Amino acid sequence: MKTKCVSVLLACAMTLVNAQTNNGETKMDAYISALMGRMTIEEKIGQLNLPGAGDITTGQAKSSDIAEKIKTGQVGGLFNIKGVEKIRDVQSLAVEESRLKIPLLFGMDVIHGYETVFPIPLGLSCSWDMAAIELSARIAAIEASADGISWTFSPMVDISRDPRWGRVSEGNGEDPFLGAEIAKAMVRGYQGTGDKAFSSNSNIMACVKHYALYGAGEAGRDYNTVDMSRQRMFNEYMLPYKAAVEAGVGSVMAAFNEVDGVPATANKWLMTDLLRHQWGFKGFVVTDYTGINEMVDHGIGDLQTVSARALNAGIDMDMVGEGFLSTLKKSLDEGKITQDEINLACRRILEAKYKLGLFSNPYKYCDLDRAKKEIYTPEHRAIARKIASESFVLLKNEGNVLPLQKTGTIAVVGPLANTRSNMPGTWSVAVDLSKPQTLIEGLETIVKNKAKIIYAKGSNLTADAVLEQRATMFDRELGRDNRSDEELIKEALEAAENADIIVAALGESSEFSGESSSRSDISIPDVQQKLLKELLKTGKPVVLVLFTGRPLSISWENENVHAILNVWFGGSEAPAAIGDVLFGDVNPSGKLTTTFPQNVGQIPIFYNHKNTGRPLADGKWFEKFRSNYIDVSNEPLYPFGYGLSYAKFEYSDIKLSANTIDANGELTASVTISNEAGVDGAEVVQLYIRDLVGSVTRPVKELKGFEKIFLKAGESKMVSFKITPEMLKFYNYDLQYVFEPGDFDVFVGGNSRDAKSARFVLK
Ligand code: BGC
Repeated sequence: MKTKCVSVLLACAMTLVNAQTNNGETKMDAYISALMGRMTIEEKIGQLNLPGAGDITTGQAKSSDIAEKIKTGQVGGLFNIKGVEKIRDVQSLAVEESRLKIPLLFGMDVIHGYETVFPIPLGLSCSWDMAAIELSARIAAIEASADGISWTFSPMVDISRDPRWGRVSEGNGEDPFLGAEIAKAMVRGYQGTGDKAFSSNSNIMACVKHYALYGAGEAGRDYNTVDMSRQRMFNEYMLPYKAAVEAGVGSVMAAFNEVDGVPATANKWLMTDLLRHQWGFKGFVVTDYTGINEMVDHGIGDLQTVSARALNAGIDMDMVGEGFLSTLKKSLDEGKITQDEINLACRRILEAKYKLGLFSNPYKYCDLDRAKKEIYTPEHRAIARKIASESFVLLKNEGNVLPLQKTGTIAVVGPLANTRSNMPGTWSVAVDLSKPQTLIEGLETIVKNKAKIIYAKGSNLTADAVLEQRATMFDRELGRDNRSDEELIKEALEAAENADIIVAALGESSEFSGESSSRSDISIPDVQQKLLKELLKTGKPVVLVLFTGRPLSISWENENVHAILNVWFGGSEAPAAIGDVLFGDVNPSGKLTTTFPQNVGQIPIFYNHKNTGRPLADGKWFEKFRSNYIDVSNEPLYPFGYGLSYAKFEYSDIKLSANTIDANGELTASVTISNEAGVDGAEVVQLYIRDLVGSVTRPVKELKGFEKIFLKAGESKMVSFKITPEMLKFYNYDLQYVFEPGDFDVFVGGNSRDAKSARFVLK
């Protein structure tokens, strides 16, 4: 009955809208103007409020404190409530019991899947497969929307060059060009594209984050200060955010860090000048969790002051802290903010609701049947398994230890071998942690009865129980074993004794990386290293299946272990996918999107660095008075773009279609890639360019294109990249986006280090 009244009311409002469109306003503008005309200032401020779900997640929606706020128009949206029935209930409070019946947004951190979980974003990026990445976002949107969610806090596109930072796991690595491609793919996957965006109830609104530069915190410490030149900002960090805006992302999340000495949340240059005036962003900006309140500790004022500054800067919605709700009216009365500023923020939030179609159907995302049919389906899981196998990076394979035979006895050893909850990886808030297989079960699915798998834990995650506890929060415990290190190793060696091959499942637990999980030591933890050393002493082949959310310093392991397969955290279907790759049913094709350092002292180390005035000559690793270290070479352990295959790819020299181009011209760079092995495989062919002389210094190499190809055993294929002056543009000293005539080196190869090169001139 009540629902019917709402529909009648909405229909009346729509009639009003159509009458007003003659004034030149769009239908949406007119609808919102009419609605805002009826709103009190308190109700407008209420739309800017995004509390956490709080007691709604555990208690009764209808009797909570938040329920009261919803009914009195003090809430614009809620986040991280799981369950369509609960969401429907809460939505009904807004659209049936509040004065103006404005629907709520329901957000969630759907970062790499919903219940079907895909690899952590860093892993996903290593697939270099834009169609797969888009599909992962699409499936995440289908599942989340089937469960009542209309808004996701993704994609996270922060460029980072610091593996000490735990949140490198959530981003796409160190390269802005690749990061921008992934940002676009994710936005398309969540929202749909063009006129089709938000057209169905399986499209949800994306939120690009964390704007801006969150990945560049000093010393890799989370939430830490960021300070960099505008050149660096624009040339090396901003591209992915801008790409998301160009792809039509509906919302932006402000970063916690400061930019130019002002917290991003109060930074008007960032939120208004750049985002809206220069990039043309039309959606709304939400703070990060208590981002406004934290500005008190940043030291720029009390809660009223920082709330006013956030609104002045161009923030529209306040996540959790209720600084807006509790102080904006007072600031308005005191003339610290204007009515127009509140109207603008309120309008942007109502626009988002309108675009999502919530005014015509507030229950658009609350179809109770969909949740039963569309979440964690066999089809979604099969796709997740395939994508997971594409994200793994084969780092070493001495003597072709891999792929393994499905025969004999395999000892699977290590603290990550027998856990379900650690498979999905950090920021998988909607997953049912009891559902993923363990690695042992995953491998058993593949070998069936053909090979015998024996298991021993071998070690705890870390010797330090407190550290292990911190690294296994949010129900990701590994069940600490109270036996001594020696006893655990002894048991592992007994298992190894009876095996033909040892698979060591080592590395990080899923919460060792992620938010607020910065590390100062990025090696494999102590007791696990000890175990690995003992296993190697058996003389049997050891395959390290490396779980990690960040690049680790594994120089010793690289020297000594026979094979290393980096599996990141591959999502809910990871165990079977790992089996697919270990046993050769899938040929690994992942390529690193982040450099692995030799040791922590080399950080930040990244491929697209500048040359300096004292570069080290090629092939040298130390020379006095050159830019280098006395105790370690400048080389990374594994460079950006690196990853092995069971196939073997040979690259021909580069053929350029011309040696010069002019400002309106273009040329092509072609290479032929041959698969010289007896197995089929996929290769990511990468194009890099170096601008040899510029008005400002230029990186030694920058990714400008890539293509993932599939080659059958013995097959060859030509890959051609078009090079245009547009691709040679960069931000100059005056921040103009220009290309400059001169010499350019072009590189094509299977990673950023080992590439063929040729030279051309831009006239
Ligand atoms: C994180 C965001 C996240 C938000 C909401 C914050 O702590 O930085 O990435 O979207 O919480 O859960």
